[in-house]
Amino acid sequence: MNSSPAPYTVLITGASSGIGYELALGYLKQGARVLALARSEQRLAQLVAQFPELCLPVTVDLSSAEDSQRAGEWINQQIQHLDLAILNAGTCEYVDVANLTREPFDKVMAINWQGTLNTLLFCLPLLRRCKEQGRRAQLVGISSMASILPMPRSQAYGASKIAVEYLFNSLRVDLASAAIDITVVRPGFVKTPLTQRNDFSMPFEQTAPMAASNIMQGINKRKWLVQFPWPLVLVMRSIAVLPLRAQVWLLQKISRAQ
Ligand SMILES: NC(=O)c1ccc[n+]([C@@H]2O[C@H](COP(=O)([O-])OP(=O)(O)OC[C@H]3O[C@@H](n4cnc5c(N)ncnc54)[C@H](OP(=O)(O)O)[C@@H]3O)[C@@H](O)[C@H]2O)c1
Repeated sequence: MNSSPAPYTVLITGASSGIGYELALGYLKQGARVLALARSEQRLAQLVAQFPELCLPVTVDLSSAEDSQRAGEWINQQIQHLDLAILNAGTCEYVDVANLTREPFDKVMAINWQGTLNTLLFCLPLLRRCKEQGRRAQLVGISSMASILPMPRSQAYGASKIAVEYLFNSLRVDLASAAIDITVVRPGFVKTPLTQRNDFSMPFEQTAPMAASNIMQGINKRKWLVQFPWPLVLVMRSIAVLPLRAQVWLLQKISRAQ
């Protein structure tokens, strides 16, 4: 029997806004079938309106294990495999160390960590099935440049991103024979609703379309680590090689100057 190859299929979480929205647009423009996941049905509808044939919206609260499982079951009925899954949904809350509460930790971990795990649970079997199409799959985790230094007020956000990076890097070890390539992405500052509430200067800030384009280029090259923009990478990595005492001293100075 002469069966045509299944369409290139991409799943993107957090596709209703910012980086995820631009990634979804980018892959839709390339003709991929895109499963766009987020809570906001209305904002996902904007993607569907532009690409009704290619975009499948999935309204889901990924911080809920039950809701994610329900979404995963529905997705399994719609598609046979995934070529690419980008686990991007996330949030940021800053911690007030002088008045420490659980709240920012719970909020951030609920989506950045639990949400990533909940998505992985239903994505991984679909990525494994990409092999049946004679293609290698790709799993992408969106971390942050914040993961490489102990940034001020970032105790919750930084911890969530380090957890995600560890998860993805150790998956790489165990998935060596599964034909699934893994990419970790560390964006610098990107102009999105997430960073709109930041009350400090954001050096080398990029637009969301620029960030999406950098991420897509890295994914195309099947890079293990995608970091941008390069001037910020240079600054951050130069500080990261210093002894921890020097890193903390410098970050305290920068933090006081803000
Ligand atoms: N912007 C930056 O400077 C920057 C830098 C480094 C890393 N990042 C990372 O990049 C990713 C995207 O950030 P962004 O700046 O594009 O933020 P954004 O514009 O606020 O988008 C966040 C996305 O996550 C979705 N989301 C949040 N909670 C969710 C939940 N419980 N269930 C399902 N979807 C949920 C949101 O959709 P709904 O609200 O519709 O659910 C939205 O689509 C995040 O992981 C962030 O940490 C951003």
